[in-house]
This record gives sequence, C-alpha cells and structure tokens, in this order.
Amino acid sequence: MKKYKVFIACDTKDIKKIRMIIKETQNTKIFFGYKFGLEFLNSKNGRNYIKSLKKLTIFGDYKFLDIPNTCSSAIKAVSDLKFKYLTIHISSGLDALRAAKKASKKTNLIGVTVLTSLNNKGLKEIGYNKDVKKLVLHQAKLATKAKLDAIVCSAQEVKIVKSVFKGEIITPGIRFSSKKDDQKRILTPKKAFENGADWCVIGRNITKGNIKKNIQSLIKHLNL
Ligand code: C5P
Repeated sequence: MKKYKVFIACDTKDIKKIRMIIKETQNTKIFFGYKFGLEFLNSKNGRNYIKSLKKLTIFGDYKFLDIPNTCSSAIKAVSDLKFKYLTIHISSGLDALRAAKKASKKTNLIGVTVLTSLNNKGLKEIGYNKDVKKLVLHQAKLATKAKLDAIVCSAQEVKIVKSVFKGEIITPGIRFSSKKDDQKRILTPKKAFENGADWCVIGRNITKGNIKKNIQSLIKHLNL
C-alpha cells in the first residue's frame, strides 16, 4: 500500500472533468480515491456514472443527517452503488449512528464531526456552547460508541480524535497555501499526514486550474 492516501473531492456535475481527474491520478506515488458529494450525487447523470466505476475506491459523501429510520433506509437505497465509504453526521445522534452502521454492512461508515467550514464563532451562531476541539472530541467518543469505521475532522484535530477513536481518520480542509476559500480549519497535506491523518480530502486545490500540474505540486510538497 502506498504511504499517502488522498480522496479527490469530485465537486462538479461535469462527467468529462471527472474522467480527466481519474486519468491524471492513476499510476502516481499517491493512492487516490474519489469522493462524490452533494453536487455530483444530485446531478442528472451522477448516479449512473457511479454505477459504471469499477475497481476504484469510491466515497459517497451524502452526509446523512436524519432520524434513525431515514438514515438506515437511505443507506440501503444506495447500496447498489457499492461505495467503499459513506458519511453520516455524528450529530444525527447515537441511535441513528447505530442504525446506519447496521445498514451499511460492508461499506465503511464515516462519522462527520464539526464541518471544517466552521470555527468557534460559527459554532456559537448555531447554538453550540462547546468550542470546536471539545465538540470534536465529544463526537469522536460517540463514534467509538457506535463502532463507526472512520471519522472526518479537520487535520488540526487528528491527535485529539486519535486519543479516543481507533478507526481511520479522514481530513478535509486541506490547503497548499493560506488561501482558505470557505474553509476555516485548514492545514497543508504534509502537516495533516504528519499529524496522523490516514486520508486527506482535497478538492479545489487540485481540481481548479491545471489538474496535472496541481498533482505534481502535491507530489513535490510531500517530497515523493
Ligand atoms: O475544495 P475543498 O478542498 O475545500 O473541498 C473539501 C471537500 O470536503 C468538499 O467536498 C466538502 O464537501 C468536504 N468536506 C469538508 N468538511 C467536512 C466534511 C466534508 O470540507 N467536515
């Protein structure tokens, strides 16, 4: 297995672009998986395209957030797409996490902690009194209780999560520079892996502009 694993966030409706992303990420020194989020999954041809993908590590980033019955039914409804990973918000609650885990069978169920686009101020605005780090720790404990397979958190919280959760850790909010876009809790890929992330999720820093060049920059950044 290659040392560094990266999920490319395929945030587009353009299947041609996704084909190009896949082509440019084969046979490199990094192991690439492909993350499909709300934009692609809700696009007209998205579902059928995913069905056509064979032998790739694919991640359905549905970020389910609902009552136990709806979460488990939704997971069963996408089982034909054979995702290796699926996401549910840990804030769905312990019963929903348990029901979802039961329904997910062979698919790895990832619990999403606090979105990387939120900081302490943003959390307060939506009525949470804990700060980001405390809330992520609290949710990681819940993920352990529900026996989830993986956690999504920012790369800044990997060490905290590792203290209470033994599954895989997947970190979005990855940036090569200090340009954050809409993200708040960012870190470079190198720092994320140094902190112990199993996977980085990288979207715009690879998919905007020249994909080939961006991948080369990532390989160089990781000293590969
Ligand atoms: O373009 P960028 O690298 O910011 O994309 C990050 C990706 O990770 C997006 O697809 C976003 O939906 C996802 N994500 C995130 N923060 C989370 C969970 C998922 O940014 N906490």
